[in-house]
Amino acid sequence: MAKNGQRADLVIHPLPRQERGAILEILSQCGNFTGEELSIAQELIDTWLDKPGQGDYTALSALLGGAVAGYVCFGPTPATQATWDLYWIAVAQGLQGSGIGKKLLQSAEVQIASRGGRTIVIETSSTEKYRPARGFYEKNGYALEARIRDFYRAGDHRLIYVKRMQAGGSDEKKENRRPHGKYRLPDRNS
Ligand SMILES: CC(C)(COP(=O)(O)OP(=O)(O)OC[C@H]1O[C@@H](n2cnc3c(N)ncnc32)[C@H](O)[C@@H]1OP(=O)(O)O)[C@@H](O)C(=O)NCCC(=O)NCCS
Repeated sequence: MAKNGQRADLVIHPLPRQERGAILEILSQCGNFTGEELSIAQELIDTWLDKPGQGDYTALSALLGGAVAGYVCFGPTPATQATWDLYWIAVAQGLQGSGIGKKLLQSAEVQIASRGGRTIVIETSSTEKYRPARGFYEKNGYALEARIRDFYRAGDHRLIYVKRMQAGGSDEKKENRRPHGKYRLPDRNS
């Protein structure tokens, strides 16, 4: 596919229940996440699917040619005015590097901005296996603002990346600010 992910058959939409299994499969096949981390990722997805109306977690998924290709999960940081956490982002292994992660991230940023978010925080690990994710965040405008040494375990530091968006919208290019052409809001439990 085109490097920039500009494909007519790439759709980003609110994660519906029927894609849950495919997303969990993508997460476990990434090989990046421990069992405990997979449980947490699943818990956030299930909160999104099982509690319509809750505002803590939003999950968007990417469909490429109708097949589930990845997802992103984010939500407002409790007790802050306009700070949001990006909790998880993952793209199917064979599709990484083709622009789908960027599209998912941009879609999350558009939603966050439209809901008043100004600052997005992403936490990740300093270990080698997260090097691609760190490169991805940096390439997409996230700056490393803090490091908590030995946070996860000895030698595995917590890195905190931050992106500050301009008041009134995401800092991405104007043409990307509106929802994508095929963006739709289906019943996520259908
Ligand atoms: C991190 C991840 C979500 C990125 O998604 P992706 O679809 O592979 O990334 P994209 O193809 O959209 O890349 C977008 C941009 O980031 C850049 N990028 C991606 N990986 C990079 C790397 N290792 N180093 C530097 N830049 C990188 C790309 O070059 C691209 O820049 P461009 O638009 O200027 O060409 C994906 O690789 C993934 O699922 N990794 C495993 C799970 C994980 O670690 N998730 C994060 C922790 S929750």
